[in-house]
Amino acid sequence: MSELMAPPARPAEVVAESVILNDAFEDPQALLDLMYRSAPYDLIYSKQSYENSGGAEPWFQRSWFRGGLAVVPEARPFFENPRLIETAKTAFGGAWEIRPHSLTANISGPMQPGRPHIDLSICRGIDDAHHPSWLRIAMHHSGLFMPWSVLQASALAYFFPGPGGGYEYWPEGPTKPSQALRSPLWNTAIVTDNDFMYHRAQGVGPREEWLAPRTIGGDSKLHKGEDDLWHIVDEGVPRFTYKESQLRLFVIWKAYVFKTRAEAEAFDNHLDDLSMDQVWDAFADDFRRRGLSFALPDDPLHDRTFRETVLRAYPPPGLRYFADARRPSDRY
Ligand SMILES: [Fe+2]
Repeated sequence: MSELMAPPARPAEVVAESVILNDAFEDPQALLDLMYRSAPYDLIYSKQSYENSGGAEPWFQRSWFRGGLAVVPEARPFFENPRLIETAKTAFGGAWEIRPHSLTANISGPMQPGRPHIDLSICRGIDDAHHPSWLRIAMHHSGLFMPWSVLQASALAYFFPGPGGGYEYWPEGPTKPSQALRSPLWNTAIVTDNDFMYHRAQGVGPREEWLAPRTIGGDSKLHKGEDDLWHIVDEGVPRFTYKESQLRLFVIWKAYVFKTRAEAEAFDNHLDDLSMDQVWDAFADDFRRRGLSFALPDDPLHDRTFRETVLRAYPPPGLRYFADARRPSDRY
């Protein structure tokens, strides 16, 4: 992307507290056993995404639940964990319903810290099956669609003795000091909102062991070896071997948060979905207010020039606050 505009001013949205939960899972060994049985692991992004964005880092993932459905049925007790559900209710100041929808198992090798960012929020009527990710990113960064937002609770539960490997977050907004959940971490979760609160992963392991992007290829896999050894295998060739204590094992759990019964019903029965006309009208009004010209092409969802114009108008709001915020060319 060419020159970036300054991101438009917008208030920091604080929609939840961050709650630390010790003993996050009743039977952590059962969860770790399932993590072992889930090997080998793939990298979190596609080979193509890494080629577009500076190379792969050793962060591997396996989906256990997606869209509320089991990919790995044995993970159900962890997906339905009442401790996470109750803590999410606390974090969001009460809720009619906390409805888990996804669970992933993650393992990071030694790597540099992530960049401060917010995750991608959800709006009623807009989903990844029918709408391209660039549109959802622009909508989220614009801050224009809060009335249609579906809040999500995120829980990140860690198993890592350190050094590093924690989670840095800005619970009072990006202009206030950050806090961190630091290692050693064992069956410890942070339950919060990651869609509007800035956060980043801390570097994993000592700096001299970090694998720089491009050290491993975009098709690398993480295999479980004998005893407590794990191997990064790149195009069939073992490249790096680690003891489990050098790897950050963690699960990411996400749940819809419905504050009221009416919110749940609006979501389930599509009572207040955004239409594409409403989205384009909101962008057009905002462009006009900012003195920018807006012309809707014949096929806006697939028009490259239009896409670039919209993304340029709504860069990541974190660029206002952080010199090293995630940029539009980064993976999302
Ligand atoms: Fe994130």
